[in-house]
Amino acid sequence: MTSVIVIGAGVIGATVAWELASAGHRVHLIDARTPGDGATRASAGVLAPYIEGAPASPLRELGRDSLERYDEFIARLKDDSHTDVIYDRRGTLELAMTADEATRLSHDAATLARDGVEAQWLSGAALVDLDPNVSRQALGGLFVPIHGSVGVSSLTMAAVTAAVERGARVMVETGAIDVSSQGGVTVRTAQGTLTADQAVMAAGSWSSRVTVQGADPLPVKPIRGQLLQLGGSRGLLRRVVWGARGYLVPWPDGTVLAGATVEDVGFDERTTSEARRSLMEMAVSLAPALANADIADVRAGLRPRGPDNLPMIGRSQAVPGLIYATAHYRNGILLAPLTATLVRALIEDESFTPPAPVRPDRHGTRT
Ligand code: GLY
Repeated sequence: MTSVIVIGAGVIGATVAWELASAGHRVHLIDARTPGDGATRASAGVLAPYIEGAPASPLRELGRDSLERYDEFIARLKDDSHTDVIYDRRGTLELAMTADEATRLSHDAATLARDGVEAQWLSGAALVDLDPNVSRQALGGLFVPIHGSVGVSSLTMAAVTAAVERGARVMVETGAIDVSSQGGVTVRTAQGTLTADQAVMAAGSWSSRVTVQGADPLPVKPIRGQLLQLGGSRGLLRRVVWGARGYLVPWPDGTVLAGATVEDVGFDERTTSEARRSLMEMAVSLAPALANADIADVRAGLRPRGPDNLPMIGRSQAVPGLIYATAHYRNGILLAPLTATLVRALIEDESFTPPAPVRPDRHGTRT
């Protein structure tokens, strides 16, 4: 058994804490605010590696691996937390609104099918048969049935609950200031100092603001995402609908999440009227029935982006007991099950090496 401090209780930190506590480790999960208040807020929970990751890219490969774990991950999470998690695997429908998009998406369908991924190019009537409220202006669409979505708040809260059920201790409003290697790993916080055998840096965009003794600041920057929750009617959309300017995610209660902006504005978590306008316009262009929908909620979160948009998962060079699990950018929710598995392997096996595309030292900084 190892003692571990997990810094950050977003979806990554909470999932890692649950995985480690389930394996019998003694876990302290700490957060500068409350669980799920950081990048997690910017996420609509879309699980779509074949949209987010380009063909043959590491992101697509990592996302495919993590998506394969999702059914089992959610089943285990519901069992361990005794709570429900919103989870839907009815696929994504990516609409082509221009001839160029139609060419690209029909080509993608053929490439995916050749690679053994179930995917269909649908044109005209077939599209409307599948989802009657998508725009009739669409020239066609790419249907990927294995994609889906997950309710991010329900997922994060379930992971925190499950971690606690397995013995983890959660400390809120306990922001990490610095990490050093005195007596194992020492994490200094505004509330005092904690020491454990190992620590996990899962503070998302804020990871660069925690000083790691002997290391360069982590090259992670915040990228704001704003989302609208739109009042809809149950069944208005049957699955995630994706377009060139954003996406729509139907929820079981009939509301639709419309996301998301991608804004390089530093640590500014405010919402804006400009985003409300452009997201509403995007939503109506994909599903005209949303034209009269109320805006039930607007939120913003800061996605943690590294130089190559891929996460950093692996050991620190400067503080040997510290493991990074951060910089997941647009895909923290999708990559959570895989990340938790990799972090557990790093905690339990000194010789374990994570896949090269996620190793934190690849950017040439001292980690
Ligand atoms: N995962 C999509 C986004 O971050 O907007």
